Amino acid sequence: MHQRKKRLIYLLGFMGVGKSTVGALLGERLHWPFIDLDATIEAGHGTTIRQIFENAGEPFFRQIERAALVEASKTEPAVIALGGGTFVQKPNFDYIQEAGGTTIWLDCPLQELRRRCEGKNDRPLFRDPASFAQLFEQRLPFYRQADHRIPTEGIGPEEVVENILRLQVF
Ligand code: S3P
Repeated sequence: MHQRKKRLIYLLGFMGVGKSTVGALLGERLHWPFIDLDATIEAGHGTTIRQIFENAGEPFFRQIERAALVEASKTEPAVIALGGGTFVQKPNFDYIQEAGGTTIWLDCPLQELRRRCEGKNDRPLFRDPASFAQLFEQRLPFYRQADHRIPTEGIGPEEVVENILRLQVF
């Protein structure tokens, strides 16, 4: 039997692509709640993502990220901005497919992403250009499996939102 698509939008893509900014605007346009996964983790743990990585390590972060994903997916409708690594964790990938929402990959070339992340201190996985590029390449095969791809290079967040709305998946 064909299952109804849930009114859940998962925004995914590499760090710096604008998932949080676009997600907040998209939520406003749709009058749907917006949930930023990283922000819920920080609020729930009373600390920053960077501190969680430093104090407890990435495996612990991935555990709480998974719990936050499951919790966020209980809200419907909702626009959910994932973290850059959420969709590439196999259990999360499977969970999201089963959750029955729509996945949208915000795509942007590496150089532009690097430019946006450089000089900021809030991303523990932005260490150096070489490891950034390697992580990007590793993740592309996952991102490519999203239902939709929206290019974002040289486009402001409002226009990105317009392009998402044009998908008419709502
Ligand atoms: C991560 C990206 C971050 C955050 C954490 C890990 C990643 O989110 O979840 O630092 O694995 O790429 P943004 O994509 O919002 O920066």
